[in-house]
Amino acid sequence: MNLVWITGGSSGIGFATAKKFLNNNWKVVISSRNNEKLLIAKNLILKTEDNKELYCYQCDISDRNQVIDVVEKITKNLGDINLAILNAVAYSPNKSQGFIIENYNHLINVNLNGTLYCIESLIKKMSDNNGHIAIISSPVGYRGLPTAGAYGLTKAGLTNLAESLYFDLKKNNIKISVVNPGFIESESTNLNSFKMPFLKSAEYAANKIFKGLTGSYKFEIYFPWFFLMLLKIFRILPYKLYFYLIKKITKL
Ligand SMILES: NC(=O)c1ccc[n+]([C@@H]2O[C@H](COP(=O)([O-])OP(=O)(O)OC[C@H]3O[C@@H](n4cnc5c(N)ncnc54)[C@H](OP(=O)(O)O)[C@@H]3O)[C@@H](O)[C@H]2O)c1
Repeated sequence: MNLVWITGGSSGIGFATAKKFLNNNWKVVISSRNNEKLLIAKNLILKTEDNKELYCYQCDISDRNQVIDVVEKITKNLGDINLAILNAVAYSPNKSQGFIIENYNHLINVNLNGTLYCIESLIKKMSDNNGHIAIISSPVGYRGLPTAGAYGLTKAGLTNLAESLYFDLKKNNIKISVVNPGFIESESTNLNSFKMPFLKSAEYAANKIFKGLTGSYKFEIYFPWFFLMLLKIFRILPYKLYFYLIKKITKL
């Protein structure tokens, strides 16, 4: 039975993805900071699934020692990690557009440093078993957007990191993928006050992630297709046109 470790598996996309993998006969480990929330998530999932191979490990990914410890525990107690979905996130929409340094530091600590700590521990464990690491990024990282400075910079960094590791991890026999979802219903997006175009459910995202990561290897998994194609076009526009259009669309 293959084993998947999902960080931030107690809610939103991580929760729905855990359910999807369990349903498809994977051994699943979910982790996040709040143990109570993790256990509630576990009980909810097990209510409807026959496969009971679902395990919870508390871990704050922004704490390097906790990450080293949890990867050690998972491999020792449950076996090799075949796939790691690095999904945990700190999110805070910066509605005021104020430059709040604490907000920047927090998001950098969790989204960037936390993901780096996970990759550091996984490389050591996965080199012998052809592992696969999937970084959940965001199209917000494709280009700068108003009010998204802190979140956007972490996601741009993650996408760039995945591109670099695509080359570097080949020698370790580790595959790397980056997942770029459009707007998905979750605790994070509940904080958004604007109307989210092409909003999809967490189950929709989980289906796309499962298919993308278990079929033939893909570097980037993105959805929904039409919205992401639009964003990819915006990615290659010259600055003058890009800034003009984003100002018009967002009115910010
Ligand atoms: N929803 C969207 O529209 C959307 C779009 C594009 C990309 N994404 C990406 O998809 C991923 C999942 O997003 P989501 O919207 O489903 O998130 P969510 O529902 O807000 O869930 C976030 C998860 O991360 C955990 N978490 C937060 N800080 C943590 C930390 N320091 N260490 C470990 N776990 C931590 C939370 O649990 P605890 O609080 O218990 O730690 C929770 O399980 C994120 O990487 C996000 O950037 C989402």
